[in-house]
Amino acid sequence: MEQYAIKGGNPLVGEVEIGGAKNAALAILAAAVMTEETVIIENVPDLRDTMAMLQAMKSIGIQVEQLNRHTVKINARNISDLVIEDDCIKKIRASYYFLGALLGKYKKAEVALPGGCNIGLRPIDQHIKGFRALGADVRIEHGLIITEAQQLKGGHIYLDVVTVGATINVMMAAVMAEGQTIIENAAKEPHVVDVANFLNSMGASVKGAGTDVIRIKGVQKLHGTEYAIIPDQIEAGTFMFAAAVTKGDVTVKNVIPKHLESISAKLMEIGCEVEESDDAVRVVAAKPLTHTHVKTLPYPGFPTDMQPQITVALGLSRGTSIVTESIFENRFKYVDELTRMGASIKVEGNTAIIDGVPKYTGASLTAPDLRAGAALVTAALAAEGISTIDDIKFIERGYEDFPQKLQGLGAQIEKVNTERELQKFRLKVG
Ligand code: EPZ
Repeated sequence: MEQYAIKGGNPLVGEVEIGGAKNAALAILAAAVMTEETVIIENVPDLRDTMAMLQAMKSIGIQVEQLNRHTVKINARNISDLVIEDDCIKKIRASYYFLGALLGKYKKAEVALPGGCNIGLRPIDQHIKGFRALGADVRIEHGLIITEAQQLKGGHIYLDVVTVGATINVMMAAVMAEGQTIIENAAKEPHVVDVANFLNSMGASVKGAGTDVIRIKGVQKLHGTEYAIIPDQIEAGTFMFAAAVTKGDVTVKNVIPKHLESISAKLMEIGCEVEESDDAVRVVAAKPLTHTHVKTLPYPGFPTDMQPQITVALGLSRGTSIVTESIFENRFKYVDELTRMGASIKVEGNTAIIDGVPKYTGASLTAPDLRAGAALVTAALAAEGISTIDDIKFIERGYEDFPQKLQGLGAQIEKVNTERELQKFRLKVG
């Protein structure tokens, strides 16, 4: 029965180090198979999802050596198979990055259809459209997506929706195609730029990542590299909102403040002080929080991956707030859990109407997905009394050492495995 047990009420105070960006790491690990030379990747977060990617790579004969907890050495010279259907890979979304990477280098890939968090329909039509525009055949058979090409040729691709996954996947497939590829209406997220920088460090020619037009000139071969992944924008944002809801004072360190602008702006709007320095951001929540409206949008808009965290904060903010989710249609499942803690939130379609309440109270909760799970942890840290959170496997997909990092800020949180451990926690926190 793995659970988090949390006693709320302590303001979080202190400093916390942010790890490497999960969603950049997942794509970069896949892209590392595109050269026969050795690739060393630093700042890889130690998470269930990154471990599943590495496990899948080993399953097709790729050499993976963990140099230390966050540095991995990869060599794909002896790749033995282009079929990835390892059991753990079926559970994660980013498995689709093997399609772009293997298709780009070996002109063939067979990958189990992606899983991932259940936050709404998650089609992959734009990935498929992009591969086809490069000349690949794509079909789905027996639960596998199969894509192959005699030869990949640069193409002009207009993405119908702004999608991080398809932008990165098509970019990977195009770096070794013949001629030039143009991706229009590309996603601009920091991790799109990070993957482009990684590919360029291997000898690719990708220009314009971070804008909505990406131009790729195909090269014949990629070479080895050493590369450090950017810090995780969403892990940082989660700690920033944890500071806000617990009336705390937290400095998130090892971040790129520019990537956090939309998050900082909303925190200031609701009454927090936010101080930026070169690689850190401090959030001080000295005043009562006030209401605001927010709509999730592709970068540089407010991230969908921060939507549950801001909703938790607005639930404790004076006045009425409106949160509109414009990326995924089913991302309010956690609201029922918050309601059981005393929140007053009504969901209509893709909108949550929130009437701020003075406090939450502890309850037995279940994490419905990764970010919602993390948001429930922040709610429990702000709440009066003890909460337990089940299904923490979701949270562990995206937050390394979450309880330990929170304990470092003064939180009373423990991972417990048995009823006895839970009782011990209750006795300890009083
Ligand atoms: C990535 O998912 C992230 N996952 C998600 O992070 C994140 O929420 C999302 O980007 C948005 O930032 C990974 O990087 C592994 P999209 P992805 O393609 O690639 C539609 C987390 O908590 N769409 O940017 O699946 C789609 O339905 C997770 O870390 C199509 O219509 O997201 C959505 O409405 C959860 N057709 C929108 O585009 C397609 O072919 C954006 O999706 C692809 C997407």
